[in-house]
Amino acid sequence: MLEQLAHIGRDPKTGGYVRDAWSAADLELREWFAGEAGRRGLALREDPNGNLWAWWGTPSPERPGVVTGSHLDSVRQGGAYDGPLGVVSAFAALDLLRERGVTPSVPVGVACFSDEEGARFGVPCVGSRLLTGVLPPERALALTDDDGDTLADVLKRAGREPGGLGRDDGTLAAVGTFVELHVEQGRGLVGEGRSVGVAGAIWPHGRWRFDFHGRADHAGTTRLADRDDPMLPLARMVLAAREAAERRGVVATVGKVRVSPGNANAIPGEVAAWLDARGADEEAVRALVAELSEGAQVREESWTPVVTFDPALRDRIARAAGGDTPAPILPTGAGHDAGILAAAGVPSAMLFVRNPTGVSHSPGEHAERADCEAGVVALADVLEELCR
Ligand code: GLV
Ligand code: MN
Ligand code: MN
Ligand code: MN
Repeated sequence: MLEQLAHIGRDPKTGGYVRDAWSAADLELREWFAGEAGRRGLALREDPNGNLWAWWGTPSPERPGVVTGSHLDSVRQGGAYDGPLGVVSAFAALDLLRERGVTPSVPVGVACFSDEEGARFGVPCVGSRLLTGVLPPERALALTDDDGDTLADVLKRAGREPGGLGRDDGTLAAVGTFVELHVEQGRGLVGEGRSVGVAGAIWPHGRWRFDFHGRADHAGTTRLADRDDPMLPLARMVLAAREAAERRGVVATVGKVRVSPGNANAIPGEVAAWLDARGADEEAVRALVAELSEGAQVREESWTPVVTFDPALRDRIARAAGGDTPAPILPTGAGHDAGILAAAGVPSAMLFVRNPTGVSHSPGEHAERADCEAGVVALADVLEELCR
C-alpha cells in the first residue's frame, strides 16, 4: 500500500513529499482511502470536518468502536511514513484480524484525519481539533494559506460544504477507543533494540507568528544609519530563541520565514516568522515565548497542552503489542491527532515503529519493511485485545 502511494505528491528532485491539505495530492490520497475502504466492504464516511472513516460494523453511541488510523497529508518536503504508515497499517491490521478469523464484539474503524500537519494554514490537527471543538469553526474558516486563500475558499473549491465545520458529538460518540500507529520521530527504539514502542506522553507545544515591520528601500543607496530593516530584529529573535531554549531546557525552531517583497537588492519592508516551541515543562515553554515576545508583535497560532496517555490503556497496549516483554514506553515532542482526541476525553494510545535514522519531517525519514510488518502485527494484536 505504501508503494501505491509513493508517487503521490512526490517531488522528483528531492524525493520529498508535498501533500498540503486539500491540494490535488491530498484529494488523490483521499480517493485512495475510499478505494481501500470499498475493496474491503467497509462503510466509508467523510465527516463534516473532512475526516475520513471506514467502518467494519456499524458504531452507535451504545456500541462505540475501536478506531485506528492517522493522516495522509505531509509537511512540505516530508517523508513517506509520517501519517501514511498509520493509515496503511490500520487497513493491514484489519486484514490480519479477518485472516485470523476474529469476530470483533464492537465495530472496528479506520480513520484518516484531515490536515494534521498544518503545513498550509498554520494550525496543526485541524480535522481533529474541529471534531473535538477545540478549534472554533469561524477561526478555522478564516485561516489563510500562502496565496491568501481562506480554508473556506479551499473547501468550496474541493466541493466541500464549509458550513458544517465544528464540534461533532455524533462522530465522536462512535469512537470508543483510538489507537494511532506512527513512525518514530527519534531514535528511542533504536536505543531499546525494539521494533515497536508505545507513547507515554506528548510534550506541550505551540506555534507563534512574529511580525516585524520596517521600510523597504534600495540596498545600494540607503545609508546604514537611515535604514529601518526588519531582518535585524528577526535575526536577533532567532538567536535569542536558541539561547533561551538551551537555558530553559526546551526546543525552539524558526522553520518558516516570509520576507516581503523579497528582493535581493532591496531592504525588506515586512518579515513574518513562525516560532515552534516545545518541551517537557510547559512553564519553561511559556516562559521562553514570553521572553521572546517582549516588545514584538506576536500572535499565538496554536497551543497544545501536555498529553499524558491513560496509563492503564497504555500498559495494556504495551503488553498486547510487546509479545514476551512489554513494548517500551516513550515520550515524544511531536503532535498527533491521538493527543487531541485524548485531551477531549477519548481513551487513546499510540504505537511507534522504529526509524533507523530518527529523521522525520524530511525525505530522510525511514522505516525498514520488517519493522513496518512488526508494527502491523502489534497493531492487530492490540485491536484484537481491545475488541474482544
Ligand atoms: C506534527 O508532526 C508535529 O509538528 O508535531
Ligand atoms: Mn508530522
Ligand atoms: Mn504525523
Ligand atoms: Mn534599478
